[in-house]
Amino acid sequence: MVTQAESTSAAAARPLTQKARNPLTRLLIIGCGYVGRRLAQYYRALGREDLLGVTRTASSAAELEGEGVPARACDLAGDALAGLPLAGAQVFHLAPPPARGVEDLHTRRLVAAFAHAPPSRLVYISTTGVYGDCDGAWVDETWPARPMADRARRRWDAEQTLRAWGRDSGAALVILRVAGIYGPDRLPLERIRQGLPLVRETEAPYSNRIHVDDLVAACAAAMERGADGAVYNVCDGAPTTMTDYFFRVADAVGLPRPPVISLAEAGEALSPGMLSYMSESRRLSNRRMIEELGVRLSYPTLDAGLRAAV
Ligand SMILES: NC(=O)c1ccc[n+]([C@@H]2O[C@H](COP(=O)([O-])OP(=O)(O)OC[C@H]3O[C@@H](n4cnc5c(N)ncnc54)[C@H](OP(=O)(O)O)[C@@H]3O)[C@@H](O)[C@H]2O)c1
Repeated sequence: MVTQAESTSAAAARPLTQKARNPLTRLLIIGCGYVGRRLAQYYRALGREDLLGVTRTASSAAELEGEGVPARACDLAGDALAGLPLAGAQVFHLAPPPARGVEDLHTRRLVAAFAHAPPSRLVYISTTGVYGDCDGAWVDETWPARPMADRARRRWDAEQTLRAWGRDSGAALVILRVAGIYGPDRLPLERIRQGLPLVRETEAPYSNRIHVDDLVAACAAAMERGADGAVYNVCDGAPTTMTDYFFRVADAVGLPRPPVISLAEAGEALSPGMLSYMSESRRLSNRRMIEELGVRLSYPTLDAGLRAAV
């Protein structure tokens, strides 16, 4: 009998299939920034030569080319998308929604382009913000989405747009709901240096994170073997508070810990963006990602991840 642990590690160790290696299958990373670049390097290391990274600006595309990744600039907000080689491709959609509103018009434009050039498979990076405030509960993928902030409503809109496309087209779609991303060059050092206050730990809501390398592993696993139509939480499964996170980062780099204030004082002292994060509390389960997607985390705790990140 194969145990759950054995089948999980077998899935994690399984190499990419021939289909994924087929040089005729183009692999697009749309929104090829901090995460996308690492994802591109992961595939380059596997010998994939049919990669294309898509960025909004020509300068970012040039930087990508400089790293050996074929790249193209194409702004989902307004550029013609007909030239993107989407037909039959495996697509990672990592581009963020617009900065305002409650709809993701970028994803809507992209999906409109699929009508003429349908990809074979798409992995979308959403956020855990779509769950809204869960009052500190443990949250798995069956938890109803109740986006509260506009940034989360835009993500929910993107998920719905893509789901409708997946249903209508029959193409495979996998949605990853990703927690706060951290890693090398992606730590809140500037905020810590400025000594901006944090809500004291006993009153701070739960928050969740993922190291960028583990996110890359989850992206690749989702492309390789994510169930069609499935949603996976992507997080390290070790929720703490934002305050704890900032304290640990400060300790790891040898900076003084920021001062703390009460939740009642936060309304005056924190930025609207930070306040909106402070109004949501949830502890995310990553069981499905581990057991069904077969991801083996390199950094299951903040301490391990921060040691590698600083
Ligand atoms: N930060 C977090 O904790 C977190 C958590 C969950 C999910 N996410 C999401 O995960 C995704 C990847 O994150 P990341 O850190 O890699 O983001 P990033 O470093 O900001 O990179 C974003 C990439 O998307 C491109 N892009 C932006 N707007 C675009 C547009 N209108 N059309 C085409 N490309 C566009 C950017 O190109 P240019 O460089 O040319 O602008 C860049 O290549 C993002 O959607 C992010 O919102 C982030």
